[in-house]
Amino acid sequence: MLLIAHRGASGHAPENTLAAFGLALKMGAKAVEFDVHQTLDHELVVAHDDDLRRCGKDRRALKNIHWAGEAENIDVGAWFDPRFKGERLPRLQDVFDLVPPRVELHLELKSGSAVYPGIEERVVDFLHRRDALKRTLVSSFDHDALYSVRSLDEKVRIGYLLGLTRTAVAWRETKELAAESLNISLRQVTPRLVKAARDRGLKVYVYTVNTPLDRDRLAKLGVDGIFSNYPELDLWR
Ligand code: G3P
Ligand code: MG
Repeated sequence: MLLIAHRGASGHAPENTLAAFGLALKMGAKAVEFDVHQTLDHELVVAHDDDLRRCGKDRRALKNIHWAGEAENIDVGAWFDPRFKGERLPRLQDVFDLVPPRVELHLELKSGSAVYPGIEERVVDFLHRRDALKRTLVSSFDHDALYSVRSLDEKVRIGYLLGLTRTAVAWRETKELAAESLNISLRQVTPRLVKAARDRGLKVYVYTVNTPLDRDRLAKLGVDGIFSNYPELDLWR
């Protein structure tokens, strides 16, 4: 079972920062998850929320601010602990510069082009330029975004975040998308759902799994991977 460091080692360092990704690597993580948005000047940036209210004390939506001169200056570390003061919002390229090729990347698109015009093209183009198609899974709750990604490239690896979608719809869409995995929340896990997905050739990844008890239960159920804020939960490092 693969442990994917969720937003980096986000139990120990501010989520979705180079500090959190660096720590995950130090802790031996074999895979890392992060969330992607786009600024007004089309920079791909790594953050969970649509704005930096929670992690940067800045109320403006990322889609409405420029990277240059604005987003690049926002401190996204101090909210977590004063030790991380000065930590800056990373760009997608900063994450790829940091994380070595042996580590799998789970790139979650928080919204598609309905919110961030052209984001799918930009991400696919980026993966090509970085020769990163093999090491990266693109996931999203926004299934229209996944269809756009798929139409741009038949080789991109796709993770289908189930969200509130009915399973009958999910089975059709994962097939149409040639998705590699079904990504579900811990609350959604049932032996039946795990089996149904695996019977369809899908890997099953579960978020967010932060206790040894849940980890062991899911390992027994045969899930393929867990997203965790605590890379030390990986017994298979
Ligand atoms: O990709 C798994 C997980 O990250 C999805 O939920 O809200 O933590 O991005 P969230
Ligand atoms: Mg995520």
